[in-house]
Amino acid sequence: MAISSRLVIMGHYMAASLTAYVRLAARAAREAGGLLVRYAGKPKTVETKRSVVDLVTEVDRSAERLIYGILHRTTPTFDFLGEEHGQAHRRSPYRWIVDPIDGTNNFVHGLPIFGVSIALEHRGRMLVGVIYDPMRRELFTAARGGGAFLNGARIRVSRARRLGLSLIATGFAFNFRRHPQPYLKWFQEFQRRSHGVRRIGSTVFCLAAIAAGRLEGFYERDLWPWDMAAGMLLVEEAGGRISDLSGGRPDLTAGQLLATNGLIHDQMLRIFKKRRHRL
Ligand code: IPD
Ligand code: CA
Ligand code: CA
Repeated sequence: MAISSRLVIMGHYMAASLTAYVRLAARAAREAGGLLVRYAGKPKTVETKRSVVDLVTEVDRSAERLIYGILHRTTPTFDFLGEEHGQAHRRSPYRWIVDPIDGTNNFVHGLPIFGVSIALEHRGRMLVGVIYDPMRRELFTAARGGGAFLNGARIRVSRARRLGLSLIATGFAFNFRRHPQPYLKWFQEFQRRSHGVRRIGSTVFCLAAIAAGRLEGFYERDLWPWDMAAGMLLVEEAGGRISDLSGGRPDLTAGQLLATNGLIHDQMLRIFKKRRHRL
């Protein structure tokens, strides 16, 4: 596949080129997804990384290698950031950001809730976001300015206007055991004020669910760039809103994310802003 490198014209992204990148990322995500389905619940090796609950298997590594190979063949000059193999710097303004298995803990235990996440970033802006849930064969795609899709059909965030009528999700990051307090306080507060809080074990699954109108809100701190990148664009392109936990622009390196259907965003922010709940 030949893809034009002249993506940006007068500050606008060419829709046709972005579509080609979406297709490329989707192909890589589906192929990696095939591996995940084959080995779910039965990886040969399970190692720990930053903490005893931060797991990695040989499938994470081989899925990332497979994705890298597919993306690199077509876009050899682009930078690459993957969770398992780190950075490949080529001084390109374009960068692929990849999580080969988001939800490795679920994957190891055979709980079928995990996904592949691939984003294309240009000078700090997400252009393309693809999340693939291989167990349900659900492919979520978005290109900047072009809307969000599930298996090719347009998706939008939910219309729930009140936190009290919303279903929320969160995650506890790898450092939870060392700093459990904020997570527990927020969990309690949102559990009291909403239809409930789900702790699902895959950030990208939750962000895709917001884009599809299945959840109203998601928050977490101490995320990694590969957890957030593709899902942030999906949520925005589905009509939702993203910010950090103070309402500012989310920063991939700071790792805080609040993603909602937009309508309950300020109601959630108010809770993070209360003095007793501040970071
Ligand atoms: C993790 C999952 C989990 C979230 C952690 C992430 P991984 O990603 O998204 O839900 O709570 O913060 O690190 O390690 O399974 O790719
Ligand atoms: Ca992840
Ligand atoms: Ca991962």
